[in-house]
Amino acid sequence: IKKIITIDGPSGSGKGTITQLVAQKLNWHILDSGALYRVLGLAAQRHGIAFSEVATVAELARNMDLQFRINDENGEVEPILEGENLAPFVRTDEAGQAASQVAVIAEVREALLARQRDFYQSPGLVADGRDMGTIVFPDAPAKIFLTASAECRAERRFNQLKNKGVNANMRALLDSIKARDERDQTRSVAPLVPAEGAFVVDSSNLTISEVLTQVLEFASK
Ligand code: CDP
Repeated sequence: IKKIITIDGPSGSGKGTITQLVAQKLNWHILDSGALYRVLGLAAQRHGIAFSEVATVAELARNMDLQFRINDENGEVEPILEGENLAPFVRTDEAGQAASQVAVIAEVREALLARQRDFYQSPGLVADGRDMGTIVFPDAPAKIFLTASAECRAERRFNQLKNKGVNANMRALLDSIKARDERDQTRSVAPLVPAEGAFVVDSSNLTISEVLTQVLEFASK
């Protein structure tokens, strides 16, 4: 049986953090599927391909020269696209919006399936995304759906940015999160819903360590 924990949920629910902590604890590998969509969005922009050119975007998804490399100094995972380190660009809101636009293309999702499944490696994988439990790893023995109120998620983003010295606009962040939620939940391909049998955690009023405890307990059953 494959050792996979899937962690799905909306933007800003804390998936990334929890995924890292769970993987650290178990010494498992990580798939940050959002990064694939983000890199693809950026790659399309760089190649001057409009998101409406679905067949061309899908071809890029299949053929783009992308590797993930671990930075020896800070341990961060860096996406290397055609030899260029995209780490400084990949987490921007612009890349997030681009990601959610290429993510609505069925052919793109299909093209990225194999790339995502290739991340599975012994001793195990923690997969972070929107459709990890529903589509990419439907046989995963432990599926988590991590969520939180939109207000709460906007506030977390706000604080994250503040720590980086960026003074964001709360209203704009909330609007951006809601726009992305709307697009992710109402799209016809892989809409964001909890997988069957998923353990749903609302992190609005929980600390990171409380979420981690609940997730690990669920996964160990
Ligand atoms: O961390 P955040 O939720 O802001 O973004 P992300 O997980 O990096 O995902 C960026 C966008 O990629 C999402 O808004 C989704 O539209 C898309 N995505 C997806 O469709 N399927 C995935 N498995 C992961 C991301």
